[in-house]
Amino acid sequence: MRVLVTGGAGYIGSHTVLALLETGHDVLVVDDLSNSSEESLRRVAELAGREARFVQANVRDAAALDAAFAGFSPDAVIHFAGWKAVGESTQIPLTYYRENLGSTFTLLEAMAAHDCHQIVFSSSATVYGELSEPPFTEDSPTGATNPYGRTKHMIEQILADAAAADAELRVAVLRYFNPIGAHASGRIGEDPKGIPNNLLPFVAQVATGRRDKLMVFGDDYPTPDGTGLRDYIHVVDLAAGHLAALDYLGGHGGFHVWNLGTGDPKSVLDIVHAYEGASGVAIPYEIVARRPGDVAASYADVTRAHKELGWQARKSVEQACEDTFRWQSENPDGFADS
Ligand code: NAD
Ligand code: WQD
Repeated sequence: MRVLVTGGAGYIGSHTVLALLETGHDVLVVDDLSNSSEESLRRVAELAGREARFVQANVRDAAALDAAFAGFSPDAVIHFAGWKAVGESTQIPLTYYRENLGSTFTLLEAMAAHDCHQIVFSSSATVYGELSEPPFTEDSPTGATNPYGRTKHMIEQILADAAAADAELRVAVLRYFNPIGAHASGRIGEDPKGIPNNLLPFVAQVATGRRDKLMVFGDDYPTPDGTGLRDYIHVVDLAAGHLAALDYLGGHGGFHVWNLGTGDPKSVLDIVHAYEGASGVAIPYEIVARRPGDVAASYADVTRAHKELGWQARKSVEQACEDTFRWQSENPDGFADS
């Protein structure tokens, strides 16, 4: 297939582009590099032995997108491009609505104009909020508690409406739980700018001495060790889930939603210990107050993805920690090292 990947230079996108190239698909990445570096795509090409084409553009740029579609004639789109920091989204909500919703509109319009009818969208478990108890099924109630989450929730609804209005349009919404890890080669991985928001990148920087200690946000949750429970999924498993969704869309019309997680929740301290095991380095930590907006537990019911896509997560949290440690040790400053 010919697959246009928005946000393909980013963390999850680069791992998925690699999996697409390795499977024999042709790829065009559209990314404005607002949160990534083209070096990730150079390394993907080195690992795959072949290149993805690349256009540096904002997905909201209709003229650039039109030229990209005209030159590449994609069969399908995977839409990763988006701003993703929950805290930042409460500070600059309009930017989040503009970038995340605006890019989706431009993309859907370009798809319609260029006879492209399949889209896989990066949604998030954040849409389950605190509306019900985990494990969450795809039919659990959805909503959102912050502007970032609302963009994901709104885009899901926009895609459902677009699919209802156009019998040709095929949509896969993938609700990721907590992506972690890196490619086993140590060549690509997560390269957050500034202070990491997410647990594993923070722990990884404590292990290499870039940060003093981890702040554990609360140990008084109603969970086995009192710290938050999450469903951490290896990014390489997540990438494989996108290929499975594309295959499914090849044979089925309509609008579909799948959780991509492991279904096996881990606590913050489980992750600390797994990382200590992988790195051989003690991770100093301090228990501090709960982080506003955090839920006690979030994990998936993964039955539907297993049944319908034949997909399931295969890699453990321990493997993810080993892969992150390799990536972080060999690239202490991320892609800026090269
Ligand atoms: P990332 O920031 O590494 O990748 C996103 C990429 O999109 C970046 O390369 C960025 O430069 C690009 N981009 C952003 N806005 C753009 C625009 N308007 N036009 C062109 N390029 C643009 O993030 P990621 O972790 O790889 O996440 C990918 C997607 O998955 C995002 O939509 C995110 O919301 C979603 N998601 C991520 C997580 C997570 O924890 N990482 C969890 C659930 C969902
Ligand atoms: C995991 C656990 C924290 C950092 C976020 C987004 C969600 C999705 C994934 C995009 C929690 C604890 C964390 C730290 C800590 N992204 N923690 N100290 O909050 O589950 O999900 O990323 O869609 O939308 O909200 O992930 O990695 O931030 O936190 O104790 O320095 O680690 O309290 O229990 P979260 P996270």
